[in-house]
Amino acid sequence: MKVMGLDPSDREAFARLAHEWLDRMLDHYGTLAERPVWQPIPDTVRASFASPSPQLGMSLEVLGEMFRDQILPYGVGNLHPGFMGWVHGGGTLVGMLAEMLAAGMNANLGGRDQIPVQVEWQVGQWAREWFGFPEAARGVFTTGTSQATLMALWVARVARWGEILREEGWHGHRPRIYAAQGVHGSLPKALDLAGMGRKNLVRIPVDDRYRLDLLALSQAIEADRAAGYEPLMVVGTAGTVDIGAVDDLEGLATVCADQGLWFHVDGALGALACWSAELAPLIHGIERADSIAFDFHKWGQVPYDAGFLLVRDGAAQRRTFVTEADYLARATRGTAAGSDWPCDFGPDLSRGFRALKTWMTLKAYGTQRLGEAMADTCRLARWLAIQIERCAELLLMAPVTLNIVCFRYDFPVNGDDLNERIAVALQESGLAVLSTTRVQGKRVLRAALVNHRTTQADLQIMLDAVCCLGRRWVNNGGMA
Ligand SMILES: Cc1ncc(COP(=O)(O)O)c(C=O)c1O
Repeated sequence: MKVMGLDPSDREAFARLAHEWLDRMLDHYGTLAERPVWQPIPDTVRASFASPSPQLGMSLEVLGEMFRDQILPYGVGNLHPGFMGWVHGGGTLVGMLAEMLAAGMNANLGGRDQIPVQVEWQVGQWAREWFGFPEAARGVFTTGTSQATLMALWVARVARWGEILREEGWHGHRPRIYAAQGVHGSLPKALDLAGMGRKNLVRIPVDDRYRLDLLALSQAIEADRAAGYEPLMVVGTAGTVDIGAVDDLEGLATVCADQGLWFHVDGALGALACWSAELAPLIHGIERADSIAFDFHKWGQVPYDAGFLLVRDGAAQRRTFVTEADYLARATRGTAAGSDWPCDFGPDLSRGFRALKTWMTLKAYGTQRLGEAMADTCRLARWLAIQIERCAELLLMAPVTLNIVCFRYDFPVNGDDLNERIAVALQESGLAVLSTTRVQGKRVLRAALVNHRTTQADLQIMLDAVCCLGRRWVNNGGMA
């Protein structure tokens, strides 16, 4: 079938094709475990994405086959229960359907009087409930925590020094931001993008549980004040990217209150632990934050992308982003009604309907069930840590707080290289995907258990494969 107008003329034929595509995705989800987690991309497939821009359209049947054969098999693998790399959510079929409905509606969530905007505001209202934020707090969807953290930085500076900064830039201020050594790379990037310079991120040492050292923080703030800097914000992390450590959020909130600083929480990985009665105590203190950046697309299992920024002082957030323009004038009635539009609370004017897949995921499962799935991943992580400690060939490299387990195949010669090669060989085997990072100065294997489909059996497959690959290396005298 070829689409002649931009909408199909043969609705029945289009419906048949649409059902086929849907069935194909349902089959794909139903047979995930039979496939490799990840597989190398053949050169021929890669080359087919170097073709010139199409001038003429093609048949949808052929296009569907191209998706089936050349795109679908070569994703990163995060739907698969054996995927444990980086921090990737597993998504759900409910989220997939919601994406289709959102795309079908083609809503632009910049603003105006439409229920899709109310859906986004409702998720914001729920976020206020989860974190015990006041009515005056506001929140909007973002691409992810990276964007949300950059936005929080902008809000914090306007809250501190006023809208003059929007006209005049930094206006001679010398702000400083504080975070733990292991803070995510999106924070220095945010400083860079905000024109503050990455050098103005002060990295504070951590304690034996990889939590920002509060005394060192207070000393750094005092030293900076004495040197003429203007401390602006402290970033606490609820789940560090490397090992899943959680800063002492209560302690950080107190330092910020005493020092008059903005307290931002990077909750990309762990903020949604608030949905689990078992895990919520781990992030105690988050309710005192001035802003929280977090992701539904990770532990929340909402399909990419769905980040969120929640700001305690919603008026400051509005002052940071609102823009006057004749074509954006608000009316008391009609399509342009409504005083607050999402575009007043963030940098984007045109915005997709990320809210729907999140709203539907929450409505379909409820926070309790989603929270239980999170607690399950933490239980799996503890189980994995125990197996590693029992295995003479493996070394546990960091305490397990949430759902991340860092370990190493223990061999004295070229250990970094060995573990890096194990990760690649494992990925290429299709049995599991681990990523790597550096802990205690050493390259380690890292399992981030985010996917709700992962089971103990998947972890056992991964462990057996790691040991087998490590032994092969050792038996070769440290050679690949
Ligand atoms: C702790 C932490 N912060 C921030 C981010 C960035 O989040 P996003 O990828 O949604 O921008 C990540 C991503 O993994 C993360 O783990």
